[in-house]
Amino acid sequence: MTAFWSWYITLLTLGTLAALLWLVFATRKGESKGITEKTMGHAFDGIEEYDNPLPKWWFLLFVGTIVFAAGYLVLYPGLGNWKGVFPGYEGGWTQVKQWQHEQDKAAEQYGPIFAKYAAMPIDAVAQDADALKMGGRLFATYCAICHGSDAKGAVGFPNLTDHVWRWGGEPETIKTTILGGRQAAMPAWGEILGDDGVRNVAAYVRQDLGKLKLPEGTQADVVAGQQVFASNCQACHGPEGKGMPMMGAPDLTQPSAWIYGSSLAQLQQTIRYGRNGQMPAQEQYLGSDKVHILAAYVYSLSNKADTAAK
Ligand code: HEC
Ligand code: HEC
Repeated sequence: MTAFWSWYITLLTLGTLAALLWLVFATRKGESKGITEKTMGHAFDGIEEYDNPLPKWWFLLFVGTIVFAAGYLVLYPGLGNWKGVFPGYEGGWTQVKQWQHEQDKAAEQYGPIFAKYAAMPIDAVAQDADALKMGGRLFATYCAICHGSDAKGAVGFPNLTDHVWRWGGEPETIKTTILGGRQAAMPAWGEILGDDGVRNVAAYVRQDLGKLKLPEGTQADVVAGQQVFASNCQACHGPEGKGMPMMGAPDLTQPSAWIYGSSLAQLQQTIRYGRNGQMPAQEQYLGSDKVHILAAYVYSLSNKADTAAK
């Protein structure tokens, strides 16, 4: 800020405060001496105004706000280029410095705890009640919005408490998933297979792979569907449809873990138009140490039996 604007703001601010002080003292009329019957002499719709001094509490409150303002303007930057003398802030208080202070304090307080867990293998962290408590809180803050507060998922978002994994359930694999995110790519088959092809293979997936009954009167050729599957789908979902974690192709024999639904209509939708589920990468937001604890927490959800913590 140039010196001109700095002085402009400073004088305007201090001038206003001084003017307000003058105003309240100049119009004060001293202490109240009991109720007066004197009025100001004007009336609106029969309403008149008594000529009483300002109530004391109001007067003191008003002076108090001005004293507060003066204190504030000394401590914080408010008067042009004046940086303020807030203790503990070399060169003046700023929001960024305050945020940095809090970050530093947290790092000092929690850094050693994170470092301790970061040095332990994930499945060992998953046995530590305190680490799981931290993991649960991190999960509630950063993951529950998609995976649900109970981590059981929703349409389009996988359940993290079961034993079925799209990208793999080994502790290190889970960590890789969270750190770097995952981008699934199920191609769209509608144009390639045509309506009949989509209908047949959907019925095959539901009945033969998913072991779910087809609704009464389903019009589909499941044997033809099997053919379609063998020539188009095996490359990713595997010859038995058990999936391929390398590319996030889900196990099609575990319908309880399908995230896009198991009805024929939903299966056809998935196959006809494809799907592109995305797990966002967390490394740049949370850093490796927090993800380490999160991975342990997620791992513990489906491996409760061998964790000591409840
Ligand atoms: C290029 C690899 C690839 C091929 C080929 C492929 N898929 Fe997929 N498929 C995937 C991936 C990856 C996903 C996961 C998509 C997601 O999570 O968004 C998926 C998801 C699905 C789902 C949804 C499962 C759920 O969780 O709801 C079904 C059903 C499915 N595929 C059936 C098929 C059928 C039938 C074919 C053959 C016509 C096929 N896929 C071919 C990669 C493939
Ligand atoms: C914006 C929504 C979103 C957020 C936030 C999110 N996820 Fe995900 N996550 C997904 C989706 C979608 C998938 C499935 C990707 C796919 O289709 O394969 C996924 C997949 C996963 C998987 C792999 C599951 C498997 O079966 O292999 C793990 C583990 C996971 N998320 C953990 C987390 C954790 C831990 C957090 C919090 C740091 C988190 N996610 C935050 C959307 C999200």
